[in-house]
Amino acid sequence: MVASTVTVFGGTGFLGRRIVSTLLEAGHAVRVATRNPERGNPAWADRVEPITADVRDPAAVARAVEGADAVVNAVALYVEAPGLDFESVHVEGARNVAEAAQVQDERKLIHISGIGASESSPSAYVRARARGEHAVREACGNAVILQPGVLFGPNDSFVSTLTAVTRLPLVPLFGWGETRLHPVHVDDVASAVRRAIEYPATAGRTFELGGAGTYRYREILVQVLAATGRRRLLVPVPFAVWHLLAAMAACLPSPPLTRDQVLLMRQDNVVGLGAAGFAELGITPRDFAATLSECLR
Ligand SMILES: NC(=O)c1ccc[n+]([C@@H]2O[C@H](COP(=O)([O-])OP(=O)(O)OC[C@H]3O[C@@H](n4cnc5c(N)ncnc54)[C@H](OP(=O)(O)O)[C@@H]3O)[C@@H](O)[C@H]2O)c1
Repeated sequence: MVASTVTVFGGTGFLGRRIVSTLLEAGHAVRVATRNPERGNPAWADRVEPITADVRDPAAVARAVEGADAVVNAVALYVEAPGLDFESVHVEGARNVAEAAQVQDERKLIHISGIGASESSPSAYVRARARGEHAVREACGNAVILQPGVLFGPNDSFVSTLTAVTRLPLVPLFGWGETRLHPVHVDDVASAVRRAIEYPATAGRTFELGGAGTYRYREILVQVLAATGRRRLLVPVPFAVWHLLAAMAACLPSPPLTRDQVLLMRQDNVVGLGAAGFAELGITPRDFAATLSECLR
């Protein structure tokens, strides 16, 4: 493998940080491009080049990728705000990055999306992810698209939210808690990004990334309760109630629950049968239950 220069958009995020660290360990030179690149990991010190770039600004994106051998888009927007919507970040922003990346023939683009991206989803977030993938494919046919399931790992928001929920005297379920999820360790996805950059055969392909096991939501809560030594009753709560709570929370500046989150919990989110994934990238992913204690420390 020849060491290369990689621009990581969203390199200060939960996944982005792990991608940057993995690439540095592998000997690549890394540029971190976000609106606030100084928010990166202090341990990187001067080993990364911070670049201020908003993916909604094509000129800033072009500057950030100039001279790079590979580009990773790990930008996320989960909650819309005035002047900041899914379309501008996940569709237009994704297109800006892809158009800038394809200017140089040999440059590899790794676009991070999510399992189940679909234009027919009831969730505006999921529909935007699907249109973003489409825009990326149109601009850069050789892009590698990675679709992870829900991410977990130390300092994540998934396990820490569930840990907070299991402190309640009664633990509410989304519906009957039967929705199937495919949690994937953040470091396994970071390794997949590295392989996608380094393996030429990944060009133009889409990989769905789920961990070693799938779990129903209630099973995940049972795992968290066991790992934290708590005993609680799991209480089914109809989705209509969750939608009402999300509608009430929508007027808060930083809502703890959104309509899109509730919609996401109504549908299974697991790797499809026959989809290319970790196996094709030569990675054995970790299992959620087996790695949970590491996230709780
Ligand atoms: N977390 C999950 O469970 C999960 C599951 C499936 C897929 N994914 C996907 O994985 C990727 C990373 O997610 P994450 O959870 O790690 O995200 P995150 O922690 O919220 O980080 C988002 C990153 O994007 C940057 N960013 C946001 N808006 C930007 C803009 N307009 N221009 C440039 N940078 C911008 C942020 O930095 P600034 O705010 O400083 O700009 C930050 O570095 C996303 O594609 C997400 O959809 C995540």
